[in-house]
Amino acid sequence: MCGIVGYIGSREAQEILLDCLKRLEYRGYDSAGVAIVSDGEIDVQKSVGEISVLESQIKKISGGAGIAHTRWATHGRPTTENAHPFISCDGKYAVVHNGIITNYMDLRERLIEGGHRFTSDTDSEILAHLIEDAEGEDLFAKVVKALDKVEGAYALAAIDGGAEEIVVARNESPLVIGIGHDENFVASDVTALLRYTNEVLYLHDREVARVQADSVEIYDLEGNHVERGTQKVSWNLEDAERSGYPHFMLKEIFEQPQAVHESLLGRLGSLEEDPFFSENAFSSVKIVGCGTSYHAGLVGKYIIEELSKLPTTVQISSEYRYSSLSEEKPLVVIITQSGETADTLAAAREASRRGCRTLAITNVLGSAITREADTVIYTRAGPEIGVAATKTFVTQLIALYLLGLRLASSRRSISSERRRQIITDMRALPRAIQDVLNNADAIESLTTRSAKSQSIFFIGRHINFPTALEGALKTKEISYIHGEGYPAGELKHGPLALLSTETPVVAICVRDHTYEKMLGNVREVTARGAPVLAIGTEGDRDLEKYAEDVFLVPHVDPLFTPIPIIVVLQLYAYYIAKKRGCPIDKPRNIAKTVTVE
Ligand code: M6R
Repeated sequence: MCGIVGYIGSREAQEILLDCLKRLEYRGYDSAGVAIVSDGEIDVQKSVGEISVLESQIKKISGGAGIAHTRWATHGRPTTENAHPFISCDGKYAVVHNGIITNYMDLRERLIEGGHRFTSDTDSEILAHLIEDAEGEDLFAKVVKALDKVEGAYALAAIDGGAEEIVVARNESPLVIGIGHDENFVASDVTALLRYTNEVLYLHDREVARVQADSVEIYDLEGNHVERGTQKVSWNLEDAERSGYPHFMLKEIFEQPQAVHESLLGRLGSLEEDPFFSENAFSSVKIVGCGTSYHAGLVGKYIIEELSKLPTTVQISSEYRYSSLSEEKPLVVIITQSGETADTLAAAREASRRGCRTLAITNVLGSAITREADTVIYTRAGPEIGVAATKTFVTQLIALYLLGLRLASSRRSISSERRRQIITDMRALPRAIQDVLNNADAIESLTTRSAKSQSIFFIGRHINFPTALEGALKTKEISYIHGEGYPAGELKHGPLALLSTETPVVAICVRDHTYEKMLGNVREVTARGAPVLAIGTEGDRDLEKYAEDVFLVPHVDPLFTPIPIIVVLQLYAYYIAKKRGCPIDKPRNIAKTVTVE
């Protein structure tokens, strides 16, 4: 995944592009580059490393039109040569691209035979040469012709020496156009633009737009004009900035009470109103997602089965296509915070192809999944910039509770008393999260030994088995310590062999029907000398007898325990990574949104 931005207007493009690019750095940070049109010439400057490196080396170029890119390598190593923008042989066209051109090898060979010289190993560079070769009276026409030859995914922005327009196109990679006053913007993600505008136009797949300083025209690739109104984004700049926190991840962890509150606002009283559920009857549910969203889905299985009694299965998005076709048509719930994950979009399309009704849970208005799915539940977490998903996970769970309640209502599968209790408990969740956050220092003090370890195990049972998986993912992703999530009962079937005095085990021991069995598993672990951090329920004085360290969370209904527990595990991972000096918001080798399969 990469980030692209563009600007056209009367201000200095270079300054604006660098500013926007920094807000997209979570999408890729191995190299960056900027192209500015100045006096009819295109000036390209690039460097390896984070955007701060480019910023410190860049020569100031004056001009009101330009494009820029921050890269996360997929084809070709992170070098200056492979950094975008790419320029055509005649120097007249420059392009930035996010996505993968699948037929680039063929195209590259043909272009080389035609006399083009390539300077990089990337698939993206072919775009600059194709545009140079394409027939057409202006840049727009040439881009459309060039795209005729291209297969694969792209969000691209192109400029020429005329500085009249930026031409952008999208297929399976996100692209948004920001509307200003006599100036317009382009970006992979709206968070890049919030300092300048919150009025946006989302480009859809196989569309191309001519972006000039005072106008935007959208067409499909067949040349038909597309009418589309602008949308106002409710996020503001502060939402997308660190606001004094050392890392976005910490800020986003602390935003969770508010994110949950927003996600519940006005929804608990109107569960009956969605026609999607009255018009469709389902006999089962299938949930798909990747990474953290997959873990939310695993928690969702327990929620939906308990509330609606509908059998629910969960699958990793990239595996869904290999699952066997069954006669019955489940409701397919697609979870993706970004709404742009390629594996998950492919699963959504496959579900529709199989004739299933689809419901998406996403955080991003106007993202690709909102067009693929039959209906959408938005998570209202606000922009999440840290690569590690935190507040979007918790609000995905909220969406799943709401979905479970909605299905339960139409199936009359829970008593009205239980329903009332659940609603009351949900309203109390922001307070429970806040209580955990108020004790963040205590969690930090529990990480000293873990930060020095090579491997940490996370164990839980039932609805907190996926919480353990998510705790492990957070830890490995940002601290680079091997983290392994396990159903607690399964340790004795092999993994116990890995435990020693050097292997901390985090055990989720809340007071529910799993408690006694969890204590047994903690004993198995301590018998092998492994230090245990037990996470339990407030008021539990017994845990101290079993575990070296204990952290207690507020009492909530067993159905909701993953919420306070995951907040503990997020902070635990965060403080470990901080102690180890890791680049928490931008962990190596991974990107916030993965737009390749
Ligand atoms: O945007 P999505 O929810 O579809 O993203 C899915 C995963 O790539 C994502 O959850 C990833 O696992 C996170 N970095 C985990 O913190």
